[in-house]
Amino acid sequence: MKNRLIVALDKPSLASAKELIAELGNSVSFYKVGLELFLNSKGKVVDFLQANNKKIFLDLKFHDIPNTVAQAARWAAGLGVDMFNVHASGGEEMLLNTMETVKTTAAQNGTAPPKVVAVTVLTSFNENGFAQMSHRYTIRETVLSWADICQKAGLDGVVCSPQEVIDIKETCGPTFLTVCPGVRPLGSETQDQKRIMTPGAAIKNGVDYLVIGRPIIQDPNPQLAAKKILEEMEGQG
Ligand code: C5P
Repeated sequence: MKNRLIVALDKPSLASAKELIAELGNSVSFYKVGLELFLNSKGKVVDFLQANNKKIFLDLKFHDIPNTVAQAARWAAGLGVDMFNVHASGGEEMLLNTMETVKTTAAQNGTAPPKVVAVTVLTSFNENGFAQMSHRYTIRETVLSWADICQKAGLDGVVCSPQEVIDIKETCGPTFLTVCPGVRPLGSETQDQKRIMTPGAAIKNGVDYLVIGRPIIQDPNPQLAAKKILEEMEGQG
């Protein structure tokens, strides 16, 4: 289960991220680096995590025209991270160009390509907020359609809510990866997340990777919070 828990390192400085990583110790082996920490550490957090043998999900959510995203993907693949993401809404051509570039870069470097996953509908959206942005279909319909497009473009999986995983696995098959934020242990605050599920239920539903930030990193005892979540995941796996 440890390999399926990705802790979101949403910290305001490299120093505070290092402190948290030390506090979590061996209980966590996979970290997500998002915009906040990547920018404030000027990317240095990637070197630090690699030097400490931690796995990295680079969550920079590329969303631009096909050429620009493919070139950003070249650099992401060159960093040797384990996983990175783009936005599915960038479209099929963008997804295809990205995968082509990632494969070429990995072959040139003689390394394994990182897993590439696409953000479908952010877990901070509910139906009302989503419809307000002029989307014609429901969140579920959109997520399933985009997951299908991503799979056909050769991506490894999608970022989605745990609530959509059963349907995605039914449409795309069991090996298509689901990476899910929006995970909240019972009793913890939901904050800006809307389409949420508990860690145990997420595992039961077949989520491959649980991405959890604030319930662990803002807990006064992050290691204990992570351990409790892992125990809950074990109970369902
Ligand atoms: O603190 P919390 O558990 O809500 O953290 C979730 C993390 O997952 C955040 O770093 C957020 O940027 C990220 N994320 C998300 N929804 C997505 C993709 C990434 O919440 N669709």
